[in-house]
Formats: sequence, structure tokens, C-alpha cells
Amino acid sequence: MSLLKAALDARRNAHAPYSGFAVGAALRTGKGAVFTGCNVENASYPEGTCAETGAIAAMVAAGARDIAEVCIVADSPAPISPCGGCRQRLAEFAGPDVPVTMATVAGDSVTMRLGDLLPMAFRSVRGV
Ligand code: THU
Repeated sequence: MSLLKAALDARRNAHAPYSGFAVGAALRTGKGAVFTGCNVENASYPEGTCAETGAIAAMVAAGARDIAEVCIVADSPAPISPCGGCRQRLAEFAGPDVPVTMATVAGDSVTMRLGDLLPMAFRSVRGV
């Protein structure tokens, strides 16, 4: 299954009653496994989580640690890019050359390297 199709499927499960803005994310690991996430909002607004965060959590819970490719999708006039926090979360498991495809439900898309989305990502000072 394409990453875009996986992200579109996950987006359908988004819980976004407060913003009305559903987002889907899918990532592929180095071994080819695909994990997905959707945004999960909360009545206590700051407790909501992004689609990318959900996909990363699913990957880690399954025992994987390396992201090879990312796709996010929303129903927006132009592709949306991951928020700053999610760029940092992706950088925990993805190198700067990992492609991040940002797509719309209508079919537009743009792909950028994670390193261009988050230059000088903070790296562990503890050698992890
Ligand atoms: N959101 C994501 O899930 N991923 C992004 O890359 C940007 C924003 C969500 C958070 C919130 O539930 C909604 O979109 C509106 O900001």
C-alpha cells in the first residue's frame, strides 16, 4: 500500500471535533513496515496530539526505531507541513535525508528532506 493511501485511511479516523481539521500520517521503516496515525484532539485543547505523533508512537510500540519515509495528508488548499514539535519528534528517528511528503486530499503534494524542514535539529547530548 502506498504511504499516501495509508495516511488517507488513518485520516478518516481523526478525532478533530474542536478544529474540524483532520490529519493523517504514515511512515515507513527501514524494514518496510508502515505505521499510521491521526490527530487526536481533546476537550482540554493542549492535550491534543498530532497525526505524526500518533504514527511515531505506533512505530515505537511495535519495536521499530528507524523512519525511512513519511507522508502526511490534510484537506487543505495547499499541503500542510509538520508542526515544529513533530519535526523534532521525527528527527529522533529519522535522518536529515528522509523524505517527508506533504499532501492534500485533492492530490497536490510536495516532498522535502527532513533536514530542510528542521535544520540543526537538536540531538541528544548523551550519545543516545
Ligand atoms: N495537526 C496535525 O495532526 N499534524 C500537523 O502536521 C499539523 C497540525 C493537527 C493538530 C490539530 O489537531 C489540528 O491539526 C489543527 O491544528
